[in-house]
Amino acid sequence: MHMTSAEIREAFLAFFATKGHHRVPSASLIPGNDPTLLFTNAGMVPFKDVFLGDEHRDYTRATSSQRCLRAGGKHNDLENVGYTARHHTFFEMLGNFSFGDYFKREAIQYAWQFLTEELKLPKEKLWVTVFTEDDEAYDIWAKEIGVPTDRISRIGAKDNFWAMGDTGPCGPCSEIFYDHGEDVWGGPPGTPEEDGDRYIEIWNLVFMQYNRQVDGTLLPLPKPSVDTGMGLERIAAVLQHVHSNYEIDLFQALIGDAAKIIGTDDLNNKSLRVIADHIRSCSFLIADGVQPSNEGRGYVLRRIIRRAVRHGSMLGAKGTFFYKLVASLVAQMGEAYPELREKQKVIEQALQREEEQFGKTLERGLNILNEALESLEGTVLPGELVFKLYDTYGFPMDLTADMAREKGLTIDEDGFNEAMEAQRQRAQQASNFGVDYNQRLKSTQKSEFSGYTETVDESEIVEMFIDGESVNELAAGSKGIIVLSRTPFYAESGGQIGDTGKLVANGGEFTVEDTQYIGKAIAHHGQASMALKIGDKVTAHVDAERRQAVKRNHSATHLLHAALRNLLGEHVTQKGSLVTAERLRFDFSHFEAVSPQQLDAIERQVNEEIFKNHTVKAAVMPIEQAKQQGAMALFGEKYDDDVRVLTMGDFSMELCGGTHVTQTGDIGMFRIASEAGIASGVRRIEAVTGAGAVQFTLQQQHQLRQAAGMLKTDVMHVSERLHQHIDRSRQLERTIDELNQKMASQAGSDLVDSALDINGVKVVLAEVSNVESKALRGMVDDLKNQLQSGVVVLGLAGEGKVSLIVGVTKDLTDRIKAGEVVNVAAAEVGGKGGGRPDLAQAGGTNIENLSRALVVAKEKIEALLR
Ligand code: ALA
Repeated sequence: MHMTSAEIREAFLAFFATKGHHRVPSASLIPGNDPTLLFTNAGMVPFKDVFLGDEHRDYTRATSSQRCLRAGGKHNDLENVGYTARHHTFFEMLGNFSFGDYFKREAIQYAWQFLTEELKLPKEKLWVTVFTEDDEAYDIWAKEIGVPTDRISRIGAKDNFWAMGDTGPCGPCSEIFYDHGEDVWGGPPGTPEEDGDRYIEIWNLVFMQYNRQVDGTLLPLPKPSVDTGMGLERIAAVLQHVHSNYEIDLFQALIGDAAKIIGTDDLNNKSLRVIADHIRSCSFLIADGVQPSNEGRGYVLRRIIRRAVRHGSMLGAKGTFFYKLVASLVAQMGEAYPELREKQKVIEQALQREEEQFGKTLERGLNILNEALESLEGTVLPGELVFKLYDTYGFPMDLTADMAREKGLTIDEDGFNEAMEAQRQRAQQASNFGVDYNQRLKSTQKSEFSGYTETVDESEIVEMFIDGESVNELAAGSKGIIVLSRTPFYAESGGQIGDTGKLVANGGEFTVEDTQYIGKAIAHHGQASMALKIGDKVTAHVDAERRQAVKRNHSATHLLHAALRNLLGEHVTQKGSLVTAERLRFDFSHFEAVSPQQLDAIERQVNEEIFKNHTVKAAVMPIEQAKQQGAMALFGEKYDDDVRVLTMGDFSMELCGGTHVTQTGDIGMFRIASEAGIASGVRRIEAVTGAGAVQFTLQQQHQLRQAAGMLKTDVMHVSERLHQHIDRSRQLERTIDELNQKMASQAGSDLVDSALDINGVKVVLAEVSNVESKALRGMVDDLKNQLQSGVVVLGLAGEGKVSLIVGVTKDLTDRIKAGEVVNVAAAEVGGKGGGRPDLAQAGGTNIENLSRALVVAKEKIEALLR
């Protein structure tokens, strides 16, 4: 049977749908709300919390074709891409998942049925492995499925125990291998020849059973579950009867197009495979909101782009080429991933920019490297060189390693790391990666949020924490966290700050200083004035005035977002936002500063939409419907199947769980307080609304009035009047310069007249004043010209410093060197000098010794001319 990649993807999802699995669309490459993972590196990542029992869905079986990235972090394949038939940075993982529903038996049966009945793979071509101790899986394969026991291997933890990361869900696994036939060298799994290419793993069935803790202990999951993963590219290679993944339909198209763009016909060159692989990871990363940078995810993206650009240059690419391949990728994958098509322009721009930037230093760096290689002794590139290439020419370490590898060399990684220490520490401080996934407060409660309509509500305490421990009672005066069954308090999320207020109960109150989510529980952080216990009834009062200010800022953020896209372009996407009572902060992708004219237009448009007084409407609907209607969703954000869509007239439509004003008119007024760049390609606007906007405007007006007063005009003429002042002061400066010059040349001719005659040589020796020290050189040149032959020594005292300068006309420098004279003089004023034989200068601090210094200079000249 021959199937295209697209047909296989669909056949897989359809098969598992008939087995009661919910079809879940691919999530972003950036794991939602998870600081422990750099990228989505397996199909199970979006379901991790479901496996752990921290999140519940209304289905217990799911299937997906998930885009994955294995570069940087655990499961890093970047260095291998291009050198093997099957490694990728980006790939698609087909998976079926059971959340405490079926376990080993069905997982194995489904996999076998799909492979042998749907894809019609010959049974005798399939081999399987199980975890050494897993007799249960062994028996299912041997007795129920009937796989001959000589084709089942027991394998240890290295290959048959799968973990998402250093902490989190994991379990033993069973892998299915495909035998590519005798023509290919290699042996079955578990044999010394297993690294050959004959037996290829195509499907991994993980029996999720444990949650690995940071100390390595394995705690059982609430319910045994199943996670499976089959690389789409690998199974496509099997079904297309090719050996390497790079020979499948999708890659052949990309490789062909890359060859055309670069202008090579060497279609088997490994660099083309690298480029075809890398265009996928880079494009999807950018589509998912990552931009090249020097930290975290952005740096991984930068490394991949630069590796691709270098391989292009090896193929002889002239100028930028990489970004031109995006169109080809969109043609291949835009159908299955509409977000790729939507973001084509943004992806192309970002890639082109990065290519241009790196292209500037690539050649110079390569030259440096080649020179170093010629004189290299041994087979290890020194860490310092690797660091220099990194620091000055933008060569990521793995790129240099890649180049070294082509010449049979390795790099001194430790040496590089030492040189990197300073930078690395900074990068680590700036990112949260490495946080232990189990180090968070856990709650199984789910609070109902009544705050869309209420700010006061009756409720009951269902859970309490002190210092991270769950407790049943809270003593009067103690600080803690209270979870209510139902609450009008908004927990910080979606950039909106948590509510404050009070919980009134038992004749006292609990002041709420902040509200945060713990899982799905809404947690009130604060301090109690009375004793409280689980089950107590409370009346929850949100600080309504503060909440109203937050609402104004949140609704204004939506108007701002829409206005930015209208006025700057569709490439604007939200990169972060913070909504507090005082102000709003909005970060967005845009490649240059927003001009003052554009800022005016944005302010005007937002205020116009405020005046239109749109009714703000919220509706809950399935995510697909929301996207169809054109609601703006954030990449990298994890959404439930049902989402809340917020609209303001026909101007703004966004997915949002936040609290908002009822009519846009409630916002009152919107003013931008600042605009600035915060990272490459990311700008930040801070703005104020309502009373805050009025206050801001009044402050500006106050400043303007003061300025007008000082300029003796009215506010409407401030800049005009300021212009006049600036012009005038420029003119004055010019006049002063001219006068200074005149005075200096006048002083100069006086000095020439007073020149001494020392053994037939004219010597000007003088203490000058009323000149700036930087004018001394000009004076000396002038005097030398006037003297034609002679020596000039000038001293100047001013602002606590002494300046000395000595000039000697060229015809005399073999008899007198300026430096010799200035040095003896400088010693008198506590300084040191230096310069050329015809001109030398010195500074010093002992002003009172200046005349003494000139006497010493004169004696030195006399001595030299004797
Ligand atoms: N999560 C498993 C893997 O990635 C299926 O291999």
